[in-house]
Amino acid sequence: MSALLELAGIGISFGGLRAVDDLSFTVGEGQIVALIGPNGAGKTTVFNMITGVYRPNGGKILWYNHDITGFAPHRIARLGIMRTFQTIRLFSDMSVFENVRAGCHLRTRQHWWQGLAGLPSQRREEAEIADRTSDILKRLDLETVADERAIALPYGVQRRVELARTLIANPKLVILDEPAAGLNDRESAKLNETIFGIRDSGITVLLVEHDMNVVMNVTDHIVVINFGRKIAEGNAATIRNNQQVIEAYLGRDDDETEEAA
Ligand SMILES: Nc1ncnc2c1ncn2[C@@H]1O[C@H](COP(=O)(O)OP(=O)(O)O)[C@@H](O)[C@H]1O
Ligand SMILES: [Mg+2]
Repeated sequence: MSALLELAGIGISFGGLRAVDDLSFTVGEGQIVALIGPNGAGKTTVFNMITGVYRPNGGKILWYNHDITGFAPHRIARLGIMRTFQTIRLFSDMSVFENVRAGCHLRTRQHWWQGLAGLPSQRREEAEIADRTSDILKRLDLETVADERAIALPYGVQRRVELARTLIANPKLVILDEPAAGLNDRESAKLNETIFGIRDSGITVLLVEHDMNVVMNVTDHIVVINFGRKIAEGNAATIRNNQQVIEAYLGRDDDETEEAA
């Protein structure tokens, strides 16, 4: 297994708060890796550092062994690192099809208006993009709602639209921030299938998730953080039986591990 992404001792502070501290872990090519931990542990902040939203003030981020620490978000996206957000961000006036198609331009430098000039090569490219959009919609079971206004659809469907929009940019790594949040049991079981499907299409997956049905059943590797520091890592069986993890996170019945169901 070769390392696709490696975090080597990264950290960041907000004022006096050390939100992430000396964190190291590796995401192997083709793996499904979960980052878990209590609310406020620093998970989203880790994603924000990987995607260039925040610059770590310690450590390095390596992509195929190349240092990408401090790269701007658009450069990170062009490398093939794409993300979804903890709260859904869809274009409110667009259909499902249009929302997903718009994802094409997240990785390339092309803008929507460049397709309007009408040159044959541009028309061909637009046709290819439309084909790819249809293809992704089919893969994520969104064909029947392609023409509906995205934000009028049920929450679980909107989540899939967001995922489709990320996948159409042809990423090498997708980073999913709480993809099961707000899904019902049936939708969360379906999400497991979707995540396996993404990996089988050659895309590596890094996710933050509270829903243990997703975390324990789909991941190859789990990294646990608490107060910004790594407290354990390993496969599902190892993590489930780790005393420190049970005390800090799994054993508590007052957090969102239940809420996501
Ligand atoms: N931009 C920011 N400014 C100040 N504090 C922040 C900022 N982003 C995150 N934090 C703080 O960093 C800690 C980790 O937050 P976050 O990464 O969102 O946690 P998680 O995703 O694990 O719930 C929290 O205490 C949060 O309040
Ligand atoms: Mg978060």
